[in-house]
Amino acid sequence: MRQSPEPTARRLANRTRISRSIPRRLLLEGKLHLLPVYALLRTSDLAREGIENSGSFRFADHIYRGRASGRYGVGMLLDSVLLRLRGARSMRSRFYHSQREVLTALNELGGGEHTVVSVPSGIARDLFQVAESLRKDRPEIYARTRFVGIDLDRAPLELSRELTRDHTNFTFVAADALHPATLPRDADVISSLGFGEFLTDQALAAFYASCHAALRPGGVFITSAMNRDRLSDYLARELAELHTHYRSAAQITAALEAAGFATVRTSSDKVGLQTLAVASKKAAR
Ligand SMILES: C[S@@+](CC[C@H](N)C(=O)[O-])C[C@H]1O[C@@H](n2cnc3c(N)ncnc32)[C@H](O)[C@@H]1O
Repeated sequence: MRQSPEPTARRLANRTRISRSIPRRLLLEGKLHLLPVYALLRTSDLAREGIENSGSFRFADHIYRGRASGRYGVGMLLDSVLLRLRGARSMRSRFYHSQREVLTALNELGGGEHTVVSVPSGIARDLFQVAESLRKDRPEIYARTRFVGIDLDRAPLELSRELTRDHTNFTFVAADALHPATLPRDADVISSLGFGEFLTDQALAAFYASCHAALRPGGVFITSAMNRDRLSDYLARELAELHTHYRSAAQITAALEAAGFATVRTSSDKVGLQTLAVASKKAAR
């Protein structure tokens, strides 16, 4: 597995904000009506993180944990409203999708040692939950499973190490997910959440192909894609410059098949915005 020598020096795909000052841009674009909204939203921890760091690992993790926090009473209240928006609820369903499908794959794999990779891992809370559940309910599977989290940014890797400190079967690697040599060979399961949304079609195709190449025959790739929710997208674009590549179930299926996956299964989450996908590499004969 290739480690990145200067991970932080490279550009993170999820850092989509360009303007140095968002209020200044809003002024220049004559969107004065958005200035009070911007000021108010900054009291919510979720919105402030989105404004300052676009679709960061902290932004995703705040949504996954679903616990409102903010400055003063108003920030807390706003945060809880934002956490209940369709966009946030559907992001949370991909977090449960990853856990469910990793557990299903591990249950179906049978004996032997298995490697589960999260790329990019951000704060690897989904894998942590899987490990906690296996240790409690399926200790025999837990004992032969190795978890690997890969991210270009060392900050979420440190937080992931702290989160999983009671589990000795976790390894975290600072590396560029877009480099073909980054992924460990012969992985059994790869999960990728909150990354494809920031990639162009061309970059996504190359990333899916790398994941396919890294899996052993019969290995499973778990991912998701998002449809656009008008309100969440408007707020994200205008106030946080958080730009997302939205894709339908048909588009993500076509991309996974083009990358070589033999079977692709998709479903829609309850909110109706998230496509939850599981793709399998052809098994060896
Ligand atoms: C929205 S977060 C998603 C993280 C995690 N999968 C989740 O669902 O919480 C995006 C993550 O991608 C990482 N990232 C961005 N570009 C990357 C790249 N080229 N290689 C590896 N990680 C990258 C960021 O550091 C960040 O942790």
